[in-house]
Amino acid sequence: DRPWTVIGIETSCDDTSVAVVTSDRRVRALVTRHQTKQHEATGGIVPTAAAIAHSMALPGAIREALETAGIRNACEEIDAVAVTRGPGLAPKPLVGVHHMEAHALTPRLTQEAPPEFPFLSLLASGGHTLLLLSEGLSRHTILGTTLDDAVGEAFDKVARTLVLPWLPTGGGAGAALEQWAAHATGGYAVTFPVPMRDGRDKPASRLNMSFSGLKTSVFRHVQTLQESDPAAWSAAMASTEPSSGIRADIARAFQDAAVTHLADRLDCVLAETITVRKVHPTCVVAAGGVAANQVLRARLGDVAGKYGLRIEIPPPRLCTDNAAMIAWTGIERLRAGLVDPWALDYVPKWPL
Ligand code: KG4
Ligand code: ZN
Repeated sequence: DRPWTVIGIETSCDDTSVAVVTSDRRVRALVTRHQTKQHEATGGIVPTAAAIAHSMALPGAIREALETAGIRNACEEIDAVAVTRGPGLAPKPLVGVHHMEAHALTPRLTQEAPPEFPFLSLLASGGHTLLLLSEGLSRHTILGTTLDDAVGEAFDKVARTLVLPWLPTGGGAGAALEQWAAHATGGYAVTFPVPMRDGRDKPASRLNMSFSGLKTSVFRHVQTLQESDPAAWSAAMASTEPSSGIRADIARAFQDAAVTHLADRLDCVLAETITVRKVHPTCVVAAGGVAANQVLRARLGDVAGKYGLRIEIPPPRLCTDNAAMIAWTGIERLRAGLVDPWALDYVPKWPL
């Protein structure tokens, strides 16, 4: 029932103007920055100069308009954005980017030897676990995916089961689990089965992955331990920093099974790509938050090496979700002439 609030942006000529207006006819803010000074010197409006002046003035004008209107949470309080489409100066081209394509292309931005198409990627994060064959822009084939939980999700849930405190250095639960696992001594003997091992020969499951069963094995193990030896469990819980003991040994057993499963699937997918599809990848790429895991990086490197391929992994801050990968994919698409119409739709479910 409340009135709508819309932010309006005008940049068609030499005024950068931002307003916040409501449907009950109130102008809650109006901020206008004139470019007269810039254009006086050239004796008229130079479009490129105007465009630069707009982009310099816009962020401040938007911030000021929102502040003046008393808008604290634009996400909740702004119902729509209205922008000038014309007539007037042409706006910048708009490039729509698929988030997963951006993950896969990141090494072409970051690596000393940028991967050339075709290449294979393992994209592993809290939301996805994909084995992808990339043969060009918009030419990606999903060869394998998780049938249930993403691998990062499993790392997060196991870390929570083991009550592992997060590290001050970041990386969330997954990074904490890696550090605890590094302290394992094997003093507490435990192993977890590698998922889908016996399904290796079945075509349907050979390239896919599963992490929910592994996660459940860890839950059950911890539950049984808590019930059968509560004293040992509470003693193990005493440490608040990565240290050896039951929690470290369980963390490592989980990590070993998860990493082995991923390495195994990369192996299968490489074999399939080369021998069945007759496509020879130039290298292997890994990205997504889980690719920050050193044990995984080493194992994937070994598998790639078996096929004479190098592995390319962006630095951790560009492995996780970031806008640099979106901008880079924009550059790749722009270079290929893949500019989108201004009437660009949001795509909630977008197959690669
Ligand atoms: O790509 P990302 O930042 O966000 C999305 O999920 O899209 O990935 C986050 C995931 C989390 O599940 C986190 O626990 C996991 O990556 N992660 C790790 C490590 N660092 C982050 N998993 C294993 N080992 C790590 N060192
Ligand atoms: Zn992502």
